[in-house]
Amino acid sequence: MKALQWQGDYLLILNQTRLPFEEEYRQAKSYLEVAEAIKNMEVRGAPAIGAAAAYGFVLGAFNYEGDQEGLLEHMTEVRTTLEATRPTAVNLFWALRKMEDKLREHKNQDLEKIREALVAEANAIAEDDRRMNRLIGEHGNRIVPKKAKILTHCNTGNLATVEYGTALGIMRAAHEANKEIHVYVDETRPFFQGARLTTWELMQEKIPHTLITDSTAGYLMQQGKVDIVIVGADRIAANGDTANKIGTYSLAVLAFVHEIPFYVAAPTTTIDLKISSGEEIPVEEREGKEVRMFMGVRIVPEEIKVYNPAFDITPSKYISGIITEKGIISSPYSVNLLKMLVK
Ligand code: MRU
Repeated sequence: MKALQWQGDYLLILNQTRLPFEEEYRQAKSYLEVAEAIKNMEVRGAPAIGAAAAYGFVLGAFNYEGDQEGLLEHMTEVRTTLEATRPTAVNLFWALRKMEDKLREHKNQDLEKIREALVAEANAIAEDDRRMNRLIGEHGNRIVPKKAKILTHCNTGNLATVEYGTALGIMRAAHEANKEIHVYVDETRPFFQGARLTTWELMQEKIPHTLITDSTAGYLMQQGKVDIVIVGADRIAANGDTANKIGTYSLAVLAFVHEIPFYVAAPTTTIDLKISSGEEIPVEEREGKEVRMFMGVRIVPEEIKVYNPAFDITPSKYISGIITEKGIISSPYSVNLLKMLVK
C-alpha cells in the first residue's frame, strides 16, 4: 500500500478518505487534481503532501500547451495553487521551492528537457523521503525499550509519507527488531487518521495494537500503561516548538505530568528555521462539517457552531527529543537544531 505513485504521466493517489473499507485510487492527470486531492485530504501527512505537490508541479509543466515564454508565468500559477491547499505542513512549501529552483535552473532549455528535469527532481524528493524515514526508524528504535507500550496520535506511517513512515516507522523498526512492542492508537478526531489509517497499517504489519478514544489517553497514562509517546510533526520551529495533529499538545502535557518521555519524529524537511517559535506557525482551520458529521452521517444540527483547528502547537519544553534522519536531538533546541542542520 502506497499513498502515491508516479506512473510516468500521472500521479496515482490512494484516496485516504475511503480507508479502511475501500481502496480507491485517483489518477491525477493535472496539477489541479493534485491540489484538490491534497485539500480534500485524499493524500495527507506532511511528507506525502510535499511529494504529491512536487509531482503536481511536474503535471503543471506537462499540462502546459503555450509557448516557452509563457511557461514561467504558468508555473507560478501552478505553484500558488498547490501552496494554497494546506498551510501548516512546511514540507509542501519546501518541496515546491525545490521544484521552482529546478525549473529556473533549466528555464532556457526546451520544454521536453525541462519536463525531464522536473520529473527527476520530484523522483529525488520521493526517494530522499524513503531514505530519511528508514534512518528515522533506525535512530528512533534506540530509544524504544523492549516490550514498550507506545502511545501515538494521528497517522505517520506509509500513508503519511512516500514510504515507511516517521513515528510509525520507528514502531515498525522496533517490531522488526523483535522488541515485542504494543501500540496504543488515539482515534484522532475528527478525521480519524488513528482509527481508520494507523490501525489499518498496524494490522497489515502484524504489530499488536489497541485503539483508544482521544480522551482515554490520560487515564491510560495514569494506570501506568504508557512507557513512551511518539508522534510526527507538520512543522518544527527553530526553538523546537512543534505543530502536529490537533490533540498532540494535550498528550504532551499529560506525558509531562506523568513523567513519560514524549518524542517527535520527523525528517529535517519538516524543520522551518525561518520561524523562531510555534506562535508563528500558521494553523489550518478546517470546515465545521468535519465535526458535525461522522463518515457522511450528521451527528449534530447544521447550525451548531464549530471550532475545528487541524493542528496544535506543542511547546518544546514538553518534548524529550526530536528524532530525525540525522540523529536524535534534545534541548536546547535553538542551538541543537541549528547545529544539526548545518552538519
Ligand atoms: O491533517 P493530516 O492528516 O495531514 O495531519 C497529519 C499529521 O499531523 C502527522 O502527524 C504529520 O503530518 C506527520 S506525518 C509523517
